[in-house]
Amino acid sequence: MLAPLHGITNYVFRNTLASHVAGIDAAIAPFLPVMPVEQIKTKSWKDILPENNTQWETMPQLMGNVVSHCVDTAQALADLGYPSVNWNLGCPMNQIVRRQRGCGLMPYPELIEDVLKTMGRKNRPLSLKIRMGLHHRKEGRAIIEMSNDYPLDFIIIHPRLGEWQYKGTPDLEEFAYLLSHSQHRIIYNGDINTVEDFNSLQRHFPNTHDWMIGRGLLRNPFLAEEIKGGIANPDLRKARFHAYYSGLITAIRENKGERSLLPALKEMWHYFSAFWCFSDKELYDLLRINDLCLFQDYVNKHTEIH
Ligand SMILES: Cc1cc2nc3c(=O)[nH]c(=O)nc-3n(C[C@H](O)[C@H](O)[C@H](O)COP(=O)(O)O)c2cc1C
Repeated sequence: MLAPLHGITNYVFRNTLASHVAGIDAAIAPFLPVMPVEQIKTKSWKDILPENNTQWETMPQLMGNVVSHCVDTAQALADLGYPSVNWNLGCPMNQIVRRQRGCGLMPYPELIEDVLKTMGRKNRPLSLKIRMGLHHRKEGRAIIEMSNDYPLDFIIIHPRLGEWQYKGTPDLEEFAYLLSHSQHRIIYNGDINTVEDFNSLQRHFPNTHDWMIGRGLLRNPFLAEEIKGGIANPDLRKARFHAYYSGLITAIRENKGERSLLPALKEMWHYFSAFWCFSDKELYDLLRINDLCLFQDYVNKHTEIH
């Protein structure tokens, strides 16, 4: 399953990736702020309009903490054809956490329980995406314990604390604890960057069958394919990357317009640079370029297949 990366894995990105790689079964779309029914204009939710999501099974994600807004937004999504939604309890960004959203909700299991209770009563199927806590591991433990009383489709666990942001390494012992205390289907997420990472996690957690990958699939779009046994020869991999990259450029141009292209590519090259083994200096030089043609020249020169 492709992880949601706000600002990157939008429908344009997802559809292009889906046309160029195999091995990914589903995706969660980047978060959508919840809102009251009178503010909802589903036509503006381009990212999750069904006509823009015909390739993978894609699930929308909610961000927010007001119970009635969660219900209204889930209802609007159900009307669009998404019976089930994911709720973001993992985002560690300061401006989100400060407003008691995303990972900022993890210290407040009673607020989370209110949403679970109401969504359950209204027959709105829900899943969660959590970390192991914002500041303490006991926060994730409390949520896992409490959530056993409610129906959930699944829980995605990224075993870092929110205060770590993306630093440090996922705490596999804590993941094992949470896994063994949950009665729900658990999906592992965090730092699967290579086939070896995946194999080692699978050995650790033989009963886990669901895996979510984010940055690893940006760094290597063929990662899921390679995990599932598809072996690409090095030149073919590079040629396929080129085809994928030009597909992305065309799709961003068509859907988001020429002016969005350079900022979008810069965001992506933070990750794509790993595929081409750029040094820090090369990436730095690339990201400093503010002219699209020069940017593309630099990319072409540094991604030549010999
Ligand atoms: C730029 C960026 C944007 C993200 N946006 C979201 C988001 O919208 N919703 C969400 O649940 N997680 C979001 N995440 C977290 C990822 O989905 C994922 O949990 C995290 O990157 C760890 O997994 P990975 O190591 O496979 O990337 C974001 C992460 C990054 C780096």
